Amino acid sequence: MSNQTQMTRGTTVIANTYGRYPVCFKSGKGVYLTDEDGNQYLDFVAGIAVNALGYGDKGYADALKNQAEELIHVSNLYWNAPNIELSEKLIAHSGMSKVFFCNSGAEANEAGLKFARFYGKDKRYQILTMSNSFHGRTMGALTMTGQLKYQQHVTPMLSGVEYVTFNDSNALISAINENTVGIMIEIIQGEGGIVTVDPEFLKTVTEQCDAHDLLLMIDEVQTGIGRTGHYFAYQAFGLKPDIVSVAKGLGGGFPIGASLISNRVADCLTPSCHASTFGGSALASVAANYILDAIESHDLLVHVREMGDYLAQKLNEMMSKFGVIQSVRGMGLIQGIELSDDVVIPKIINQALSKGLLLVGAGHQVIRFVPPLIIERQHIDEMIEILTAIFEENYKKN
Ligand SMILES: Cc1ncc(COP(=O)(O)O)c(C=O)c1O
Repeated sequence: MSNQTQMTRGTTVIANTYGRYPVCFKSGKGVYLTDEDGNQYLDFVAGIAVNALGYGDKGYADALKNQAEELIHVSNLYWNAPNIELSEKLIAHSGMSKVFFCNSGAEANEAGLKFARFYGKDKRYQILTMSNSFHGRTMGALTMTGQLKYQQHVTPMLSGVEYVTFNDSNALISAINENTVGIMIEIIQGEGGIVTVDPEFLKTVTEQCDAHDLLLMIDEVQTGIGRTGHYFAYQAFGLKPDIVSVAKGLGGGFPIGASLISNRVADCLTPSCHASTFGGSALASVAANYILDAIESHDLLVHVREMGDYLAQKLNEMMSKFGVIQSVRGMGLIQGIELSDDVVIPKIINQALSKGLLLVGAGHQVIRFVPPLIIERQHIDEMIEILTAIFEENYKKN
């Protein structure tokens, strides 16, 4: 069936909660997707920082197929070996102590919110989160999201969450009170527009956590599992968090999320204090095990750093040509270009789509680049060529 036919069917039956581009994908190979009309696209979106190994990885597909034939799901009333193996790997890579499994980023943050409250022992409950942050769409995660536009028409939000201006140490210090139990941050705000935390601010965060027995809660849903060239972005800053949320890249496309916790948080948990029916299924765990093994065996962290440097270099070259590009920012393979206010970002993204390139926006006037981690130099060159052609059509050169 054609793109158009599929879109007509979809519009009739699928809830209207997404602004979708006019394309229906059928298959993928490497870093390219093919739509129902047979057009090919170079993918710098990767399911929004999800498809770490791109598409059509035979080993990944075989691992899922074999596990599906053996065992897909049992209740968390019982153990399953792939999940135990995955927990061991996550702990080894993160330096955390225990893992709680779920199915998405929002759900990982919901778990983190509850775990922090358990740590507060009914006396302390308040979480400080940052302006411009994004933590997901369920009510707890949405409450922690410091952007009013996502909360419109669903208020009242939960109580016990206060917002602090991101990177403002004084604001953080003055927001702490006797009810505060944790501070929640993203090392790089992804949805917020690829805004990296200021190391000075981080210093204040850790000092305040130490001084007031607060939990350092880090949302690595977008930045985690190798995307920044580190397993977790907090490792680039030498942090020791108490709660780390992951999802997106963990399963390489198969849904799985997790909350990684320190010993002092783990010690507050008891059977049935939290649960998720599908959390850590054998099938999801095999998917995540495959991704973590591939990161090791293909030396992907080094590759991501190299490709990230190359991408940043190429974007900086574009910035020196086009005045509308105001900054290039990010780390590894989560990068963004900030564009002046006169640039209409959806127009650029649509033009890219018509030229066979997938891009996604973020925050205020930012185009985000979150390709599969297996991207190579020639793909970055191809993307830059298409983007340069679009900028040449639309904007004056310096
Ligand atoms: C930092 C961060 N946290 C949480 C989420 C929510 O994840 P999910 O859509 O899997 O619930 C996202 C999604 O974009 C995210 O970027």
